[in-house]
Amino acid sequence: MGALVGKRIVLGVSGGIAAYKAIEICRRLVDAGAHVVPVLTKGAEHFVGRTTFSALASEPVQSSLWDEAEPIPHTRLGQSADLVLVAPATARLIGAYTAGISSDLLTATLLATRAKVLVCPAMHTEMWEHPAVQENLATLRRRGVEVVAPESGRLAGGDIGHGRLAAPETIVAAVERALVEPDLRGRTVVVTAGGTREPIDAVRVIANRSSGKQGYAVAAEAAARGARVVLVSTVTLPVPPGEVRVVPVETAADMQAAVQAEALGADIVVMAAAVADFRPVAPAAGKIKKDGGVPEIRLEPTPDILAGLGANKPAGQVLVGFAAETSDLHANASSKLERKRLDLIVANDVSQPGVGFHHDTNAVTIVRRVGDPISVGLRGKREVAKAVLDAAVALLAPRQ
Ligand code: PMT
Repeated sequence: MGALVGKRIVLGVSGGIAAYKAIEICRRLVDAGAHVVPVLTKGAEHFVGRTTFSALASEPVQSSLWDEAEPIPHTRLGQSADLVLVAPATARLIGAYTAGISSDLLTATLLATRAKVLVCPAMHTEMWEHPAVQENLATLRRRGVEVVAPESGRLAGGDIGHGRLAAPETIVAAVERALVEPDLRGRTVVVTAGGTREPIDAVRVIANRSSGKQGYAVAAEAAARGARVVLVSTVTLPVPPGEVRVVPVETAADMQAAVQAEALGADIVVMAAAVADFRPVAPAAGKIKKDGGVPEIRLEPTPDILAGLGANKPAGQVLVGFAAETSDLHANASSKLERKRLDLIVANDVSQPGVGFHHDTNAVTIVRRVGDPISVGLRGKREVAKAVLDAAVALLAPRQ
């Protein structure tokens, strides 16, 4: 989550039962490298303790406009923020902010900032649907405030309905999108993820250990940077937030058909999938019976999807391959870069601990046609994705 590193975020918490979820949001933002300054309303303090926030955030909680040590805290908070996030935002808070009433430190900070503001409403369904709340939110949207829509589910008092605070991961993703450099806005990025499955018979397949995590991380990073993403995937993981269309596939042949169709209009294609190199020549229609003895399964090569893309690459497209190696990382990756006519290849030594298949982390060397290789040490797959897309974006021709 590189977008949040060093960013100063004022986390405003107003008084609703969902205030307890703001603790998780605070923790996630700090974990992602943000400097989080919590500002609680008096109402919020009925639901959550100041100590909890002060312990987790980057600075102690602030809640008063009246502090002898700092007479005008709201202007400092508002002016120094990269982003102000209000989660949860009650109907009262939304109403005061819309009307420009600075009755406490949080509303005063909201009025004193020119930073991006994200408001995450949470309230009972009747209040959420009230025209006053909806009209206030429409006004805020018109003024450039981003509203992270609430979800349906369990509400305070056991009621079920619409108005529940969006999930912490949704809110953190919205913060990240708001802060990230939108250098892929207007671009289309095709990403493949997961391992292909080649049928042996009606129930058995030749598969591999790819979890799809690296491909999904590339898709999430591209979407966060404003791209339209087409994610050709053999696995079912949560779809990353943003403009992401998933094309489910199973075999190398499926993946080839999908990628060929989608890659035509793409600015960047990233083949992170582990495509089987061989498949059974003639998969059995039914289940092969055990009592027939050990079957002999003849294999044939699968199509090399990436080499096909390299041979027919439209002008201006950036084509990125991955290389899963266990030795001679650089030499093997460079030869694939040449053979498949790629712009970049991302080599991972999958024999190393924490690297490659299934892990949440990866370590890669990005080999380029021009320039030294870029070494990315062991880190989260999202950060690896960021480095890969940074290298790909650098090769995109400027837009006319
Ligand atoms: O999914 P994860 O668990 O997160 O693991 C990530 C990963 C290890 C799968 C990923 O980082 C990775 O290395 N993907 C590529 C794996 C692979 O197939 O490597 P390869 O060296 O065999 O293939 C080189 C390139 O050609 C790859 O981009 C591959 O997608 C492509 N290829 C390979 C064979 C084939 N028939 N068609 C292809 O397009």
